[in-house]
Amino acid sequence: MIPYRTEYLSADPAGLEQAADYLRQGLLVAFPTETVYGLGGDARNGEAVAAIYAAKGRPSFNPLIAHVSSVEAAQRYVKWSDEAERLAEQFWPGPLTLVLPLKAGGGVSSLVTAGLDTLAVRVPAHPTARALLKTLDAPIAAPSANPSGRISPTTAAHVLAGLDGRITAVLDDGPCGVGLESTIIGLTGTPTLLRPGGVALESVESVLGNRLHLREPGEPLTAPGQLLSHYAPDASVRLNAESQQGGEVLLGFGEVVCDMNLSPDGNLNEAAANLFACLHELDKSGRPIAVSPIPEIGLGKAINDRLRRAAAPRS
Ligand code: TXA
Ligand code: MG
Repeated sequence: MIPYRTEYLSADPAGLEQAADYLRQGLLVAFPTETVYGLGGDARNGEAVAAIYAAKGRPSFNPLIAHVSSVEAAQRYVKWSDEAERLAEQFWPGPLTLVLPLKAGGGVSSLVTAGLDTLAVRVPAHPTARALLKTLDAPIAAPSANPSGRISPTTAAHVLAGLDGRITAVLDDGPCGVGLESTIIGLTGTPTLLRPGGVALESVESVLGNRLHLREPGEPLTAPGQLLSHYAPDASVRLNAESQQGGEVLLGFGEVVCDMNLSPDGNLNEAAANLFACLHELDKSGRPIAVSPIPEIGLGKAINDRLRRAAAPRS
């Protein structure tokens, strides 16, 4: 047994009560969501939120998502709209984040929004995340529970590999089902895709009855986390690899001879769920990583987005 310095909690009633208690004290607890593990702190407590940035080594200009238990809870913190209503009805609880105008006096720490006048809100679907929100009865600010710029965690072991000793506890409830972060939609003007993710953008467009605005090259970064080099393993990453070159490990998709396969059947949902775990695993080999082509449809867009960032030159 490795002597972890971060307390390990099981997702049972005692573990949940302990996790909520730590959050009430302004301490940090990583917890599972259906997308990835989040690094949670009480969103009303500025010191807790500051500790999140410190634990991740995250640039302080990068705002956080407030996780809430319901639409009613979200409405305490943001100005609601008809578009928000339609999207929430269809996709909440679930892997969709909405950026809306911040409501004055809602009580969320300004460190959560990094001083912006908008707030990102999401109602997660994972039963443990929901139980934690219910027990705490407060919004939880939570970025992905990884050191800034590194691969996102889809298991408690990934969380500990990156943050052991830097956070109070991790609540373990097995691997995340979706495996990619939430899709982020900006609703402060023309509905805009700020980050592709767990809900396919085609599904969002069909609910809105309109195409989403996509950020043009050169347009300001409205989701500041969309820095080019992100989700980076230690190893270099080569995309659209049809075969292995000297020394590389191959991360495959579909019917291909490889070291690990995102989905032997070519299923994009399965590939999304496996993506970060495979990158964590292959990164341990210390060899460069080559990745098979992934089709640019449905969740393939979000997968390719993460892979392009993993492959980008490091800053
Ligand atoms: O699935 C997820 O969204 C996971 C789980 C834990 O919920 N969380 C997550 O958080 O991916 P994080 O911090 O790694 O990514 C949040 C993204 C960042 O790119 C950030 O810049 C953007 O959301 N964001 C947060 N608040 C924003 C705001 N007010 N306006 C624009 N972008 C915002
Ligand atoms: Mg992240």
